[in-house]
Amino acid sequence: MLSYGGRIGSNAGATGTSVLDPFGWLVFKNAVIRRQSGSNAGATGAFGWLASENAVSIKVIQKAPEESLGSTFLRVVSEKPMKTVWVTGASSGLGLHTAMALRDDGWQVIAGARSFTDGQRDGMTCLQLDVTDGESVRDFCRKAEEISPPDALVQCAGMLVLGSCEETSAEEFRRVMDTNYLGMVRMNRAVLPLLRARGGGKIVMFSSINGLLGIPFQSAYTASKHAIEGYAECLALEGKPFGIQVMLVEPGDHRSGSDKYRPHAAAMTEESPYAAEYRSATERIHRDESCGSDPDRLGRKIARTLDRKRIPFRKRIASADQHFAVYIHRFLGARINGAVLRKYYIRRNA
Ligand SMILES: NC(=O)c1ccc[n+]([C@@H]2O[C@H](COP(=O)([O-])OP(=O)(O)OC[C@H]3O[C@@H](n4cnc5c(N)ncnc54)[C@H](OP(=O)(O)O)[C@@H]3O)[C@@H](O)[C@H]2O)c1
Repeated sequence: MLSYGGRIGSNAGATGTSVLDPFGWLVFKNAVIRRQSGSNAGATGAFGWLASENAVSIKVIQKAPEESLGSTFLRVVSEKPMKTVWVTGASSGLGLHTAMALRDDGWQVIAGARSFTDGQRDGMTCLQLDVTDGESVRDFCRKAEEISPPDALVQCAGMLVLGSCEETSAEEFRRVMDTNYLGMVRMNRAVLPLLRARGGGKIVMFSSINGLLGIPFQSAYTASKHAIEGYAECLALEGKPFGIQVMLVEPGDHRSGSDKYRPHAAAMTEESPYAAEYRSATERIHRDESCGSDPDRLGRKIARTLDRKRIPFRKRIASADQHFAVYIHRFLGARINGAVLRKYYIRRNA
């Protein structure tokens, strides 16, 4: 008898005790098979990973429940050792979508965010974490290590403050740097000894297209993402002899980021000398994000990449025009780049 629990695909899940019959079917007796209302998951063909109590993820195809027999049959397709990933900033946006994709891919996910209370949710272990607070980082790592040491760390926690360079206060700059950049540094310092002790592992850090090029009124965010880019190059060089691989994720605009992590600098009022240009640029930024790419696809891409033995140092996940913008930014001079970016973000009559 083995006990399995977890999600099948993104719509259904199963918990219960099952036996593996001689023909390779997991037979759940009186199992709880969850289905989201309105979804057709649970029909023949739904598949995904389930976690078992003996630290193995099994890939299953779900057959239509044989209600009459009171049992549900799941076809075991393959199995792999279950690995553990710690994910920061997993309560919303790309962090949440990435955590869910990793869970669906058979990882044991330990997720951290300030708004979490400790406990199980949606097939993941959630722990309270504030990456700007050294004590909270240590607490998170201690609790997470007791559950399962990490094979990988994925760092998504982030925020930005919108405002002009002149009027964004030093305190506002500090908050962004403390969360986006120093938050990653704190987490890495706590996790690197654990990865070294295990003979290696993977560290994924969320940068941005803004880690490669600056846009108006996002200087604090852009500076923090540029800092991450430089830092990651050093970390990759130092981690190599210990089997530690580093990957920068550089997303372009994606939907689902929450407005509460994009506050305006306090000084950005209608009296600001930048008010008109600021309005134009922030409208464009907002439009680009709300019409941005699908966060689920990004999550699945990261999960697929993390499964590979060797991961790339950079993974840019962006629309074709944003890929192109990064490409030409490398070759055009500062003056032409500036003209192109101003034309894009600042309306003529602003
Ligand atoms: N969305 C995009 O288009 C886009 C594009 C490029 C890069 N990115 C990057 O992707 C990452 C996720 O951004 P998003 O826009 O998708 O998500 P988001 O909705 O802005 O979520 C930010 C996440 O960070 C967490 N967080 C903020 N401060 C934290 C702190 N001090 N300690 C721990 N967690 C903290 C938040 O949770 P709590 O409030 O619960 O702590 C939340 O889960 C960020 O690094 C962002 O820079 C996003």
